Amino acid sequence: MREILVTSALPYANGYIHLGHLVEYIQTDIWVRAMKAQGHQVTYVCADDAHGTAIMLKAESNGITPEEQIASVKASHEADFAKFLIDFDNYHTTHSEENKHFSELIYRRLNSAGHISTRDVEQLFDPEKQLFLADRFVKGQCPECGAMDQYGDNCEVCGTTYDATDLINPYSTLSDATPVLKTSKHYFFDLPGFEQFLKDWTRSDNRLQVSVANKLQEWFDAGLASWDISRDAPYFGFKIPDTPSDEPDKYFYVWLDAPVGYMASFQNLCDKRKGGDNELDFDRYWMQENEHKTEVYHFIGKDIVYFHALFWPAMLAGSEFRTPTGVFAHGFLMVNGEKMSKSRGTFIKAETYAEHLHPEYLRYYFASKLSDKVEDINLDLEDFMQKVNSDLVGKVVNIASRSAGFLVKKYDGMLSDTCVESTLLEDITKTGDEIAAAYENREFARAMRLIMQCADKANEYIDDKKPWSLAKIEGTEQEVQDVCSVAINIFRQLMVYLAPVLPELTGNAKAFLNIDDLSFASRNQWMLGHKINKFKPLMQRIEEKDVAAMVEDSKASLTQTDAPAVSNDTKAVADKKNTEQTEDTADDYIGIEDFAKVEMRVAHVVECSHVEGADKLLQFTLDVGEDKPRNVFSGIRKFYEPEQLTGKKVICVTNLAPRKMKFGVSEGMVLSTGDPKTGLTVVTLPDECVVGDKLA
Ligand code: MSP
Ligand code: ZN
Repeated sequence: MREILVTSALPYANGYIHLGHLVEYIQTDIWVRAMKAQGHQVTYVCADDAHGTAIMLKAESNGITPEEQIASVKASHEADFAKFLIDFDNYHTTHSEENKHFSELIYRRLNSAGHISTRDVEQLFDPEKQLFLADRFVKGQCPECGAMDQYGDNCEVCGTTYDATDLINPYSTLSDATPVLKTSKHYFFDLPGFEQFLKDWTRSDNRLQVSVANKLQEWFDAGLASWDISRDAPYFGFKIPDTPSDEPDKYFYVWLDAPVGYMASFQNLCDKRKGGDNELDFDRYWMQENEHKTEVYHFIGKDIVYFHALFWPAMLAGSEFRTPTGVFAHGFLMVNGEKMSKSRGTFIKAETYAEHLHPEYLRYYFASKLSDKVEDINLDLEDFMQKVNSDLVGKVVNIASRSAGFLVKKYDGMLSDTCVESTLLEDITKTGDEIAAAYENREFARAMRLIMQCADKANEYIDDKKPWSLAKIEGTEQEVQDVCSVAINIFRQLMVYLAPVLPELTGNAKAFLNIDDLSFASRNQWMLGHKINKFKPLMQRIEEKDVAAMVEDSKASLTQTDAPAVSNDTKAVADKKNTEQTEDTADDYIGIEDFAKVEMRVAHVVECSHVEGADKLLQFTLDVGEDKPRNVFSGIRKFYEPEQLTGKKVICVTNLAPRKMKFGVSEGMVLSTGDPKTGLTVVTLPDECVVGDKLA
């Protein structure tokens, strides 16, 4: 029996759970249930991630203490997880005694081993709010292209990354005050000191997916930097211990104590179980010398790989704890092929979904999409309905509903004493080995495909034997019972295979089948001369109107002012490296009157050229049908040679306020699509478009 500890990332305590989060919790829960069903001892822990500036500010704006804020969010998170049948063995919080203990212990060990150093850091400080400003809380003009209202870390117009202190005319997004530069002492964790360890760790024992290991290689190539683990007051978190008494208090940056929360939640569970018959030993899972006796796996989203595959193993190794056996990253959720959007009603809260649709529909749909890859997964609402209805209702449940009626009505629920189709049953039992392996390898989509193939075989068998016709012929009583018994036995095997994904449906099926075991091994037991109970419908079809109502409700619920902040998925997610959770309560609707304010015209590129000294910009001379051509800069130099655009017809925003830049004044904006980091495509128009015409 393997002893396995599994975690999902700890959700922030300032927002509700949405369908994007659920990709992760459902993926982990299915894996845990599948491994438990295969007879392993698996423990699944999680917690709320309760510290940091964002949570502190959220509490302040709600007029409550941070403690009250995190308590109410924790209760709502737990309620949501329960609805989606996420079966944690323990759900704790990072704002706990256990977490304080382990964070301090790890820090002290790192410190005494020489992995912590201090350095003065000059940072922007909000003189009104009296706090240091994280990058997401400062805006100003881009130092490279001059664009207004850019965040403190990178410019969304030209894609340059810079330090917040480089912004021109910076302002605090918390108070609008002009930040001042202020120096304070910061504590750093010596990540570069772990470079060789991390390189070896990353490439050994299949700990990471290949694409993640490659991403890490890029980070190694770029060079590791020491990690700033301290924050100044006011901060909601743990004080760093052993700092000089004549200096101001310092706090652990939220990302230091967050992963320690995995240990803390596990310790909390060990304490709860102490003296019981399912005791757990903390040291057996976390002491370095026990590294090979037990396994530890972290399921995470692709945005937090940096923390889990670099900082966390380095922190653990540096403080003489064992490192995780594996870190499994998944991609992000898209809805209808696009990022979740509030205005389209596809930014769906877990709670809103559950008001309209059964959570197991989503569990099955995600399972049918998930693989061991870091790819994004798409919830296409049309496909969702179609797939769940045809696979679960049409194929799986149908097997039972077609055969149980005869058995209960005519044979008092008794199955035949012998099996007349052992080859078919054995075949489906054998497929179980592949299904079990697919679950273990996180190839859930493959597992679902294999299961549906089994269901197809059962339905073909029933279609072929036609018990409903047989039943009308005299003298076929035995045959009808035999055929239906085969079908019910296959149905039981399918329930075993689907149990990790559909715990409720399969639990109800257990009652109907009058059995008490759905472990993987139980698929070998055939039900012969066994009495089943009356069949009750196990799952209803998804109705289009319910999906539509959920989407409508999602539009409505997000405009309510009491909604907690959503996580930052709507912003760039690829790199959450050193940013903290920030809020995004702004609704993404604009009125038609706002849209009408933007004037876009067909423009002819008279000239296009490089700009001396600006490696991101191209300079355009555009004819937009006015007396004089316009001069426009655009941050697309990385993606185009000037000749490619000269002579083309493009779209120019003509009533954008002129922007003064280092290289001249930009009198408009050329529209392109894509991402300034990875690639932009200038939108070009057909030749017949008339220069100066307005777009509407
Ligand atoms: N608090 C940190 C994790 C700390 S772990 C020591 C955090 N919280 S989060 O609430 O933003 O995200 C929790 C998990 O949900 C992360 O693994 C994240 O990747 C995942 N997801 C959040 N939004 C998601 C989607 N839209 N799609 C898929 N997964 C998403 O990060
Ligand atoms: Zn810029």
